[in-house]
Formats: sequence, C-alpha cells, structure tokens
Amino acid sequence: MDFKRYLITAALPYANGPVHIGHLAGCYLPADIYVRFLRSQKKDVQFICGSDEHGVPITIRAMKEGITPQDVVDKYNTIIKNSFEEMGISFNIYSRTSSKIHTETAQAFFLNLYNKGIFEERESEQYYDESKEMFLADRYILGTCPVCGNNNAYGDQCEKCGSSLSPEQLIDPRSALSSASLVKKKTKHWYFPLDKYENWLKEWIVEGKKDHWKSNVYGQCKSWLDNGLYPRAMTRDSTWGVPVPLPDAVGKVLYVWFDAPIGYISATKELTNLWSDYWCNEDTKLVHFIGKDNIVFHCIIFPAMLKAHGGFVLPESVPANEFLNLEGEKISTSRNWAVWVNDFLKDFPDQQDTLRYVLCANAPETKDNDFTWKDFQDRVNSELVAIFGNFVNRTFVLMHKLCKGRVPKMHNDIVDVSDNGLADDIVATKLKVEQNIENYKFRDALYEIIDLARKGNKYLQDKAPWLLAKTPELQLENQQKIDNCLHVCLQLTANLAILINPFLPFTAKKMCFMMKVVERMLEWENAGRLDLLKVSYPLRAPELLFKKIEDIEIEQQINKLKETQKTIKMSETTDKMDNTETVRQEIKLEVHAPKQEITYEDFAKLDLRVATIIGAEKVKNADKLLKIELDLKTEIRTVVSGIALHFKPEDIIGKQVTIVANLAPRKLKGIESKGMILMAENEDGRLIFVSPLEKADAGSEVK
Ligand code: 2FM
Ligand code: ZN
Repeated sequence: MDFKRYLITAALPYANGPVHIGHLAGCYLPADIYVRFLRSQKKDVQFICGSDEHGVPITIRAMKEGITPQDVVDKYNTIIKNSFEEMGISFNIYSRTSSKIHTETAQAFFLNLYNKGIFEERESEQYYDESKEMFLADRYILGTCPVCGNNNAYGDQCEKCGSSLSPEQLIDPRSALSSASLVKKKTKHWYFPLDKYENWLKEWIVEGKKDHWKSNVYGQCKSWLDNGLYPRAMTRDSTWGVPVPLPDAVGKVLYVWFDAPIGYISATKELTNLWSDYWCNEDTKLVHFIGKDNIVFHCIIFPAMLKAHGGFVLPESVPANEFLNLEGEKISTSRNWAVWVNDFLKDFPDQQDTLRYVLCANAPETKDNDFTWKDFQDRVNSELVAIFGNFVNRTFVLMHKLCKGRVPKMHNDIVDVSDNGLADDIVATKLKVEQNIENYKFRDALYEIIDLARKGNKYLQDKAPWLLAKTPELQLENQQKIDNCLHVCLQLTANLAILINPFLPFTAKKMCFMMKVVERMLEWENAGRLDLLKVSYPLRAPELLFKKIEDIEIEQQINKLKETQKTIKMSETTDKMDNTETVRQEIKLEVHAPKQEITYEDFAKLDLRVATIIGAEKVKNADKLLKIELDLKTEIRTVVSGIALHFKPEDIIGKQVTIVANLAPRKLKGIESKGMILMAENEDGRLIFVSPLEKADAGSEVK
C-alpha cells in the first residue's frame, strides 16, 4: 500500500539520566535512518519524540540525587535533547510530557474512555507506608524473593534472578523509603479492560501482522495473547504525574504507561496544527521505533487504547530492537554502566558518524549484541577508514594528480566490462539498500554500501591509473583510460554520498562540500545516476572523512570503564549503608569476604586523612543520615554518612576520625558529600570510628 504521510515515533526516553549508546542503537538511530531515508524520497514525514517525565523512574532518581522530580526532569531533558541534536537525530519535535498540551491531551483521552464507560472502577488493598503517609509503587517495596531468596528483591522484579514479581509475592515486604513495616489500605483505581480487546487484538496482530512484523515482536505479542489478557490499572496513587481528571480522584495520577504513548499525539499537536492529518487518517503509516522492553505497551496496550478511543490510525509496524550490552554486561543507567553519548562526544569530538556507523553495523536487530571498545576500533579502522574513506580519498587525490582537479570526460569508445560492471553494481546496491531499509534491516543496508565502496577500491586497484601515468610513450591512450577510471570513481563517490546519507549524514555533507554540489543532490532518486558530477567541473581538495582510532584512545576508554566498575562496587556498598537492617547483614558478609589483592599503586591512589568532627546534624527526611562538618585544617568539609542510627550528633563532636578525602563527591538528599568516614563494624553490627590512638593534627595524612 502506498501511504500519503509517515508518522514515525521513537520511544520517549525517561528523563532520569543521559542518553547512552544502548538507547541510540536500540531505537533512535534506526528511527533516524528510516526517517532520513523517507525524507530523501521527499515523503511527507513527521519524526516525533520527547522526554517521558513521569512515573517511578523519575521519582527514584529524584530520591537518589536528593532533588525534586521537577529538578530531575529539567536537568535530564536538556542533556538528552542536546545529545540527540549533536548526534544528528533529526526529530521534527522533541517535546516533554510535563507540557500543558500533554496534560490536556492525556486527560481528554482518559475522559473520552471514562465517558464511554470503558473503565472498570475497582477497590483493592495496597501497601501503604504509614510513616511516609503514602501508597507505595511496586519499586518502593522491598522483600525476600520467593524464587531465589534474595532479600532485597523489588515489588516488581528480583534483580538477582530476574523473576518478575508482584508485591504480594514478596516474603516480609518492607518499605524502601523508611524502615516502617507496611500496612494494607484500600484504594480505588480505574482499570482498562484489556481482556475485552483480546479478540480484536488477535485478529489485528495474528491475522494481520504476522507476515511483516519482526519475529521477535510478533513472538512476544503472540505469547501475551496466548496467555490471556487481563484488566490493567491505568491510575496510580502518587503526586507525580498527570492528575486523574475526576473529582473523586484526589492524589491520583494517570499510570505512566497510559500517559507516555499519548505523548506522541500531544507532541504532534505541539508541532503542527495539522496534527490530525497524521493521526486520524488511514493513509498515514505510523511506525513506532522502540526497544524490546516496550513491546507490550506499543503492540497491545496502546493500540487497544487507540481502538477504544476511536478515530486514530494504528501502528503499521513496531520494529523493536533487542538490547545492546557493553563489554559483556547489561547497560544500566542506575549503575552507571554505560557509554554516555555526551561523554563520547567530549572524548571523540566531531565523530558522530563513527559512532553512528558502529552502532548500526553492530545493531541488536535480531538478538542482543555486545559493544566493545576493541570492536569499535576495528570497525572504524578496517571498514570506515580502510574501505569507504580510503576509496573516496584515493579517488580525489588521483583526480587532482592525474586529471588537473577536474571531473574527467568519459571516452565512450573505450568503455570496458569493468566500467559497466561497476555501474550495474551501483544500481543493484541502491535497490538492495532500499529493500533492506524498508524491512528495517539497517545493518544489511549499511553492509551493502560498504561493499559497494569495497568494489570501488578493487576497480581502482585493477585499473591502477597511477601506473598508466608512468608510461609517457602511451600518454594519449593512457590518459583516456585514466579519465574513464576516475570519471567512474567520481560518479561512484557521488552515489556513495547519496546512499550513506541516511546513515552518516555528517559524512554525506562533507562529501557534498568536497564535490562542490548542493545537498539536493542527495535526494534518493539521484542514486544510480552516472552523470551526477559534470565533466570539467573543478572539485575541492580531499578532506579525510574519518580518523583512525589509535590504541591509546581505546585504552583510555577501557580504563574509564574499569574505574566505573570500581565506583559501582563502592557505591553499592554506600547505598546499602543507606538501607535497612537486613541489607546491613549483607554488608557484613562482604566485609568478611577477602577482597582482591591490589598493588601499592592502587593503595597510593587513596588520600586518607585524619579529620576532626566540628559539627553534626540529622538530615531531614532521612532516618539514617548525618550531615557532618569536618575540620581538615586547610578546609572545612561536609560529609553525609549513614550512621544516624548509631550516633547522636551531639556525642560525636570533637572526635577525630579517618576519612577517604579524594572520593568523588556524591549527592545524598540534596547535600553534596565530599569524602567518606571510615568505620569498623563489630559482629553485632555496632559501628566504631577508626580514630588515631593519640590526638593527631587535623588534616594529617594516613599512610
Ligand atoms: O522505557 C522507556 O524508557 C519509556 N520511557 C518509553 C516510553 S515510550 C512511549 F510510550 F512514550
Ligand atoms: Zn530472585
């Protein structure tokens, strides 16, 4: 079917951390390639995204950083937006679900279903933390996993064994926000009857989509449908989110997975008055690019919501990717195990396209894949630099040297099989790239383009125009051969620019500059043509398209990850200190377990100092934290320490302690803590300061 308009969405990222390479590879880069391809075909397309600013991920981050949820979303929305822009992810709009237009749109959507009597109102008993006076989201409930016995499992999932759980399944559930044990309290919520849409979904997906949806996506949908669908609560007890627009719903907000996908609609509204042309028209092709953890929401719940509402187009496809791991481990925002896009761009300035290249060439399209720095280096050096960049560079250098810097003429009477062969290859590659992109096989498409450049290199090598130039006695005849060879290579270069443009837009732009052509040349319909560069046209001097990645750069990145690994270990210990009694048991085990041997250099990195406590007070809303002022002679330091259950502030003033003075600062409940006070822990869990036996000078070094 031919579509009149294209509405392409990319999952709204939670504004709870910067964007990392897993986000790019999973969703934003494939979406951008697809959109750039459509635009190059002059299609009417809108590319929609924005920050998902509600839900538990935001409030958890706020708690961790000790700032308000609003501060969290303001901070990360800016960082995320900038990273996307710098990486050339070409959204038509990047909006936010905290916008007024979104609140209005989501509330109107909810009321539409409510007024049709679609929701079921149900009262249920849910866990309530009396000391905090709030119902707890599943993530805020901790307890023992019934499957593996991990006593820090969350109310929705055990991170140790991966089981997905409900709070009811946890043994000895407790609040993660306070040490209070939990009570059950009645609360009312509005449920969307997914079960009533089961038949319709089966028809729509199983009958309609199985032939062209990716098998990972279809497979997940099928298994949800086979297991049977149930009503799902679309509201939550919380103060952070879109308020439920009903008089008897005080303290209730829309479930984040109800409001977030509506964000696609509200962002389009914000973008254009013609939004309904895109959303409410059967001749729109709606495609949701997402990661695999979002499949059920985009293929089952959101379509059922759209169907219940009526009047909206449904997704034609949902090409979800699998996950990208980093050096063999799952990427994690909360554990800081990631390559952050903003960091990458600081370390590799102007190398957006090298990252785009590697993430596409190694995209987790059909299975989880691993990003390693070594593979990054190999792919950049041996594919981008050695094949694509090399071909373009050699062509330009030779054209300047052997053809006076101008596009040489094609002498038709001496055209040979290999000239024609390469021309055919260009046309065939265009078709293969087209087909692959249309089927969301971006890796294969990119492979074809590199393969075409490889063929260009072979052609150049076989023709060896530099040798032809060395026989002056055959000058005239040979010059014609040289002309033909470089004419073909230059036309191939122009074609490569068109083909690579959706993938590596910065590179395509550079190539246009070198060829002195306007960017309109990059329109897709021009691919396959062999007259893109006019004969005698003077071209610019070559610029290197890609930079080789040196070993030292890779070593630095690997070392950075090793440092992160250490910090993860340390902060996991600190986090646990900030937790409940049961968690402390676990620390004890860790303390007793012998640690890995370290070198003297490792030890020497620690800046240990004696400090005198000159002030201490309890931290508001944190049972276990003390804010402590330390005299280090040259400065007064603030350290936040999880020892409030062990010491009264007034009892510790004047004491001398040992601190790690060069630990990276960390915010706890909004207070910047610079350093860590060392403690010994007795068998019974009692904490004791590690103090000098005699009074030492404040600030003296401990060696
Ligand atoms: O998984 C996530 O990061 C979600 N914030 C995706 C939301 S996609 C859409 F529904 F908004
Ligand atoms: Zn478990």
